[in-house]
Amino acid sequence: MDKIVIEGGHRLEGKIRINGAKNAALPIMAACLLLHGPSRIKGIPNIVDIRTQIRILENLGGEIQHLEDGSLEIIFRDGENKEKITAPYDLVRKMRASVCVLGPLLSKRGKAKVSYPGGCVIGQRPIDLHLKGLKALGSDIETTEGYVIASASRLKGTRISLKGQYGTTVLGTSNVMSAAVLAEGTTIIDDAACEPEVQDLAHFLNKAGARISGIGSNTLTIEGVKELHGVDYEIIPDRIEAGTFMIAGAITKGEIIMENVRNDHLTATIEKLREIGVEITTNGKHTTVKSNNKYRPADITTTPYPGLPTDMQAQFMALLCTVPGKSVITEKIFPDRFIHSAELRRMGADIQVNVPCATINGTPSLSGTHVMVSDLRAGAGLVLAGLVAKGTTHIHRIYHLDRGYEQIEKRLSQLGANITRVKE
Ligand code: EPZ
Repeated sequence: MDKIVIEGGHRLEGKIRINGAKNAALPIMAACLLLHGPSRIKGIPNIVDIRTQIRILENLGGEIQHLEDGSLEIIFRDGENKEKITAPYDLVRKMRASVCVLGPLLSKRGKAKVSYPGGCVIGQRPIDLHLKGLKALGSDIETTEGYVIASASRLKGTRISLKGQYGTTVLGTSNVMSAAVLAEGTTIIDDAACEPEVQDLAHFLNKAGARISGIGSNTLTIEGVKELHGVDYEIIPDRIEAGTFMIAGAITKGEIIMENVRNDHLTATIEKLREIGVEITTNGKHTTVKSNNKYRPADITTTPYPGLPTDMQAQFMALLCTVPGKSVITEKIFPDRFIHSAELRRMGADIQVNVPCATINGTPSLSGTHVMVSDLRAGAGLVLAGLVAKGTTHIHRIYHLDRGYEQIEKRLSQLGANITRVKE
């Protein structure tokens, strides 16, 4: 196993290009199951979760190739793979997002057998809303031996609400929308997620011949079509990676110029950083994060898009730990998603957690020590804290980080961080 070692205290400066969005790429790759003919998708990041998704799709008969221009070509041959309907436990346990093959498989092959994804350290993560939506479209669903088995001869359009206890569901919306595009008649999804990644999937499907309207709102209308064709498509930039690098610039009081950023997808993150005192400017092509100011503490609440994303919560926590004064973070999507606070405390942070809130009394300096990553974004928060901590921070279990950030240590060291990956 590898670990990351950081000598804190180096100001970050320079240019960085943001990769395509992991959370858009995963459902779009799964949606290729629905298409007739090859698709070439640009901007897919080279990270572990994408490699897992490739294995899942190959297992379902997908032919996947890396092309010279960096795009991924995905083909499913109709007729040849009808019997391949299983996403096995071994692969699904590695990545909960693999549940996004459920809708496309059911719709295209009439049956899907997908290992029931378990909970994880960020919370319970049920899939009841996914199943509710697929049932409403006319499928039979049973759960046996840890698998969800869904079947239907032809799905039928209907009106469905995807509202749950914590708002709507991102992957649930992707699953139901993907299943509905080839259904008979019209489907209306109320309380749909409108995250940019869901919008990207809808745009991809429309380019392939689907008829989805209301994209970007909480009501999607999908008129079923008979067939979809392969397309060339470019994935949106990763707003969470961009937000993470913004905080890397902010926490080290540096200056980072970022390329390939959709500021319109980052409105809540940028507003909150400005409230804290970070300067963020854009000239249309580049976004610059610059920070000479004294920062102010802030109160943060994570909510569905366009609110502040839960996937930025740990990174904001790391920043606010270094800002003197009292900040409060309220986590409205995954109320238990605070495991990183215990590791930050080991670095000298003062954080009290009272679910779903964390109260932070910022201290001007953290100190390096050994810390452990519990999930992808927790890992990002710990790396950010390590960049400013006094002394050396050793970050263990970085396989979580590799799931979602491509060569994070290399890219941060190009910006001037003293960070290396070493074998344990
Ligand atoms: C997506 O997960 C993202 N993953 C997560 O990013 C992100 O944190 C999350 O959306 C919220 O924005 C991918 O896109 C691959 P949800 P998803 O269903 O879709 C509850 C990362 O770090 N819920 O929108 O699985 C659920 O428990 C990852 O990149 C139900 O109650 O999340 C949660 O409280 C981590 N029933 C809330 O809804 C359901 O059937 C939102 O979850 C489904 C969800």
